[in-house]
Amino acid sequence: MRVRPYEPRDRARLREICLATATPRVYEDAALREWILLMYNDYYTACEPKTCFVAVNDADEAVGYVICAPAYWRYRLRFLPYLLRVSRCSRNAARNWLFHQVEGSFARSYPAHLHIDLFPEYQRLGLGHQLMDALFTALRARHVRGVMLGCGKNNEKGNAFYQKYGFTRLGEMRGAVLWGFKLA
Ligand SMILES: CC(C)(COP(=O)(O)OP(=O)(O)OC[C@H]1O[C@@H](n2cnc3c(N)ncnc32)[C@H](O)[C@@H]1OP(=O)(O)O)[C@@H](O)C(=O)NCCC(=O)NCCS
Repeated sequence: MRVRPYEPRDRARLREICLATATPRVYEDAALREWILLMYNDYYTACEPKTCFVAVNDADEAVGYVICAPAYWRYRLRFLPYLLRVSRCSRNAARNWLFHQVEGSFARSYPAHLHIDLFPEYQRLGLGHQLMDALFTALRARHVRGVMLGCGKNNEKGNAFYQKYGFTRLGEMRGAVLWGFKLA
C-alpha cells in the first residue's frame, strides 16, 4: 500500500469510501446521499484536485483519501456556484451549507480544511498518518499557514487520530470538535 496524488480515475472509489464511512442512512435517503457526496467529496475532487491524495492497494485502487480546500475564502466563493450548478436539491443544500459555515473565525490562522476517510479494513495501519504527511508537504509547498477540520464529538477514532497526529483542539461547535494544525 502507498499514498499518491489523486487522479480523476479515482473519483468513483472515493465516492464509495465516502459513503462507506458516513452514516448508514445514506443508503436509504437519496437526498442525504447526494448532499454528503457533494459536501464531503465531489467539490474537492472537482475543484481542488491538487490537494487531494489517495491511499491505494497493490492493484492501485483507492482505499482511502485525504481531500482538502487550501484557501478558506476561495472555497467560500467557489462552493456555492458549484453546488447550484450540479445539485438537484440545490435550495435546501445551499441553505444547509450557509448555516454550517461557522468555522470562518479560525480561517485566518487555519485557512485550509480537509476530510479524511479510509475503508474500515484499511484503518489503523498507519495510512491516515501517511495521507496527512503527503497533504501537509503539499500545503507547506504552497505556503499554507494552517489547516482545520470538524470531527463529530462521538467519533472516537477520528478524535483520537487527530490528537495523536498532533492537532490542537480549538473548541466545540454544533456537536463537532474543531481541530487545527499550524503548518508554519
Ligand atoms: C480516522 C482515520 C482517518 C484515521 O486513519 P488510520 O489510518 O486509521 O490511523 P493511523 O493508523 O494513521 O493512526 C492510528 C491512530 O488513529 C487512532 N485510531 C485509528 N483507529 C482507531 C480505532 N478504531 N479506535 C481508536 N483509535 C483509533 C488512534 O489514535 C491510533 O493510534 P493507536 O493505534 O496508537 O491507538 C480512519 O480511522 C478512518 O477513516 N476512520 C473512519 C472515518 C472517519 O472517522 N474519518 C474522520 C472524520 S472527521
